[in-house]
Amino acid sequence: MAARAGGHSQAAMNGMKEKVLTLDTMNPCVRRVEYAVRGPIVLRALELEQDLRQGVKKPFTEIIHANLGDAQAMGQKTITFFRQVLALCVHPDLLNSPHFPEDTKRRAERILQACGGHSLGAYTFSAGIRLFREDVAQYIEQRDGGIPSDPNNIFLSTGASDAIMTVLKLLVAGEGRSRTGVLIPIPQYPLYSAVLAEFNAVQVDYYLDEDRAWALDIAELQRALHEARGHCTPRALCIINPGNPTGQVQTRECIEAVIRFAFEERLFLLADEVYQDNVYADGSRFHSFKKVLMEMGPPYSTQQELASFHSISKGYMGECGFRGGYVEVVNMDPKVQQQMQKLMSVRLCPPVPGQAVLSMVVSPPAPSDPSFEQFQAERQAVLAELAAKAKLTEQVFNEAPGIRCNPVQGAMYSFPRVQLPARAVQRAQELGLAPDMFFCLRLLEETGICVVPGSGFGQREGTYHFRMTILPPMEKLRPLLEKLSQFHAKFTRDFS
Ligand SMILES: Cc1ncc(COP(=O)(O)O)c(C=O)c1O
Repeated sequence: MAARAGGHSQAAMNGMKEKVLTLDTMNPCVRRVEYAVRGPIVLRALELEQDLRQGVKKPFTEIIHANLGDAQAMGQKTITFFRQVLALCVHPDLLNSPHFPEDTKRRAERILQACGGHSLGAYTFSAGIRLFREDVAQYIEQRDGGIPSDPNNIFLSTGASDAIMTVLKLLVAGEGRSRTGVLIPIPQYPLYSAVLAEFNAVQVDYYLDEDRAWALDIAELQRALHEARGHCTPRALCIINPGNPTGQVQTRECIEAVIRFAFEERLFLLADEVYQDNVYADGSRFHSFKKVLMEMGPPYSTQQELASFHSISKGYMGECGFRGGYVEVVNMDPKVQQQMQKLMSVRLCPPVPGQAVLSMVVSPPAPSDPSFEQFQAERQAVLAELAAKAKLTEQVFNEAPGIRCNPVQGAMYSFPRVQLPARAVQRAQELGLAPDMFFCLRLLEETGICVVPGSGFGQREGTYHFRMTILPPMEKLRPLLEKLSQFHAKFTRDFS
């Protein structure tokens, strides 16, 4: 922003025209957007990394990026089948190579046949390639025990984020008290708060119950809705299952209760199910909202509006850089569905390599295919290691005085609660920082470990947390968890 001096901007004083676009004139909704998982702490981590590269001495030799659910960046292995097929699609000359299994070639040819000019470089239909939408529908049917899924209700997207934004955009309307309110969990994945700020919608917080392993409580939904109706018009309820950052997996009973609540209160349901493959805890199972909704029968199955999101970014594949995902809409007004189609067509189409990966994720090699065994082994290895890391994380944190961690039942994160001494809280306030931001910054400066403060996700007043991914390789994870616990103990001593 041009500095103002005595009514004249610095630019004007220098004989230059004032910029049209300044912090004062820009879209205020964009200015309000915050996105903690790539926020100030991550910027500081990048600076420290640069210092290390330039030989500046630090108490650590590398930055551990435990802030972002980016599996491959943390060393997770890619799934060979996906990469072989992609390589063939990107460079079809390789179809003559003897180094690729026969089923990868068949698969690549199938994908290329579906692309304009048989090329991954061509635009596609805005909702994605029809054949892949059919693959997705088939996957959903299988996942949901045969409940039908219509490819016309499936829209491929640039990661789940893009589809979530599209659906929220359709929902946002009104001014003053008629402005759309959207109920989101607290703690939440900050895409939601960021998008609601950008769209000038009202964020309506409902709190997950930390004392009951981050369970969702219908009475709390009721409270949040009731209060919100005093100042906005709640139209949508968003659920993240399995949860980010909280790692809980919802029970079927809970999902049924949420659906009944949404139906009675006339709320559009958004089910963020991007972690549907990431369920680790004994006794926990993923239940899709679509399946539960359909099994509840009429009037729910025939009337309750639902959008359910999935992605290639998480699970065992972690292909987040390819940007692939989809939304399935259920009971959406057909005229609105046309509007959604129109909105998507403005952005032309999701990346075609991402669409191709999605088509493989939803339709992996069959038992009779040459790639099947290796695919199964690689998939199992990733998921088994994630499950072991989830358990280890919970265990090590819970051994540390002043840290309490709920079971990581699913997803890719722990969200432990930390006790911070009153003097640390006071010091943070003097510095204008949230206390857990102060803790996380000190942790980064002293150990090189980068985690995200709980304040970036929302938390109950007076409680402090951080989010750490369970993604670091097994051999690094235990020392990392122990180092973090030791740092917490030292921090507590320093400020006692
Ligand atoms: C709960 C949740 N929803 C959506 C997304 C966005 O995923 P994508 O990479 O598919 O846009 C993420 C990413 O971390 C997430 O955690």
